Amino acid sequence: MDKILIEGGNRLVGEVTVSGAKNAVLPLMAASLLVDGWTTITNVPNLRDIDTFKVLLSHLGCDIESVGPGTLRIRTVNVPSPEAPYEMVKTMRASVLVLGPLLSRFKKARVSLPGGCAIGARPIDLHLMGLKKMGADVSIDHGYVTVKAEKLKGAKIYMDTTTVTGTENLMLAAVHAEGTTVLENAALEPEVVCLADALNAMGAVIKGAGTETIRIEGVRELKPVEVRVIPDRIEAGTFMVASAMTRGNVLLKDCPLGYLESLSVKLREAGAEITEEAGGVRVIGDWPIRSVDIKTIPYPGFPTDMQAQIMAMMTIASGLSVITETVFENRFMHVGELKRMGADISVDGRCAVVRGVKHLSGAPLMATDLRASASLILAGLVAEGKTEVSRIYHLDRGYERIEEKLKRLGAKIERVKE
Ligand code: EPZ
Repeated sequence: MDKILIEGGNRLVGEVTVSGAKNAVLPLMAASLLVDGWTTITNVPNLRDIDTFKVLLSHLGCDIESVGPGTLRIRTVNVPSPEAPYEMVKTMRASVLVLGPLLSRFKKARVSLPGGCAIGARPIDLHLMGLKKMGADVSIDHGYVTVKAEKLKGAKIYMDTTTVTGTENLMLAAVHAEGTTVLENAALEPEVVCLADALNAMGAVIKGAGTETIRIEGVRELKPVEVRVIPDRIEAGTFMVASAMTRGNVLLKDCPLGYLESLSVKLREAGAEITEEAGGVRVIGDWPIRSVDIKTIPYPGFPTDMQAQIMAMMTIASGLSVITETVFENRFMHVGELKRMGADISVDGRCAVVRGVKHLSGAPLMATDLRASASLILAGLVAEGKTEVSRIYHLDRGYERIEEKLKRLGAKIERVKE
């Protein structure tokens, strides 16, 4: 296993290009199951989660070609056994996204229930509720869910909780249903819109993506397309925070600032300067950093996937920051590690109170989940002395060569074999 070593104290200066969005690629890969022909996806980042999804699709019988950097081609002629096994699903819960397309095209799917994960229980009850409403027969046994339907029927589905992959899964199931499906309280995330745009290009009839109500009219045939993945707003946000907290001056190229309004507001409140230029978005950090309060809510609110990163910044701000995590019930795994660096944080349920300290001190740390790992890397950039982050396979799930990108910006950082 690799680990990352950081010598803190350097300002980040220079340019960085934002990679394609992991959480847009995964549903697009699932969508390729719907068509008999080569689906081409471009601007694909080199990430563990995408490799895992490739293994799953190959297991299902898909042909997969990586044609040059960032371009993926997938063809699904037939799926002899539409089953996603436990050993694959347990490493990546987004595997449940194959449920909708497999059911829609092959009338059956059997997927291991994802089980819990570090940040929360993360059930898929709403995915299954929606499939049931569309007429699927849903059964659970031996840790697997089996869904079957000769022909799905359009239905009106209200999701009690806004769920990103739930919205995506039901959209993927509804494209061939008889009649119209209406998803109420749907997720508004840009990745949902990216999927809807791709499905419409394939011949689907989907209206309202990006709003709370999405209407999907079932169609008979879809055709394969080429689709470019939107930039990763969470990677971009992570680099924006990195510049802001190191008194940096970083130009982010291919930065989807339009998807980052809530983060930008908070970074400006904290004292950062964020400006759009011809070549991208420039983020200049100020000192002292001002403490801001954060409450994570579904898009377009402050993203839960940026909570750990902004917390790292608040540990060295000049006041008190109250951070409330409303989306997941256990997404403060980074707190214990940040405290070992000297951060002053107290957690009460879904609320963390962060009192800024003069400085953090480098320490040996252990990553626990994807965004917590990013938070520890950011803290290492500003800590006095050496920081060592182990178990960075968590980091590699969602960041493409982050240490190389940070090194090019002036960070003293390297990846070593554990
Ligand atoms: C997606 O996960 C993202 N993953 C997550 O990103 C992100 O944190 C999350 O959305 C929230 O924005 C992908 O898109 C692959 P949810 P997802 O369903 O869809 C509850 C990262 O860091 N819920 O929107 O699994 C659930 O427990 C990852 O890249 C139900 O109760 O999240 C949670 O509390 C981490 N029943 C809330 O909804 C359900 O059937 C939001 O979860 C489904 C969800």
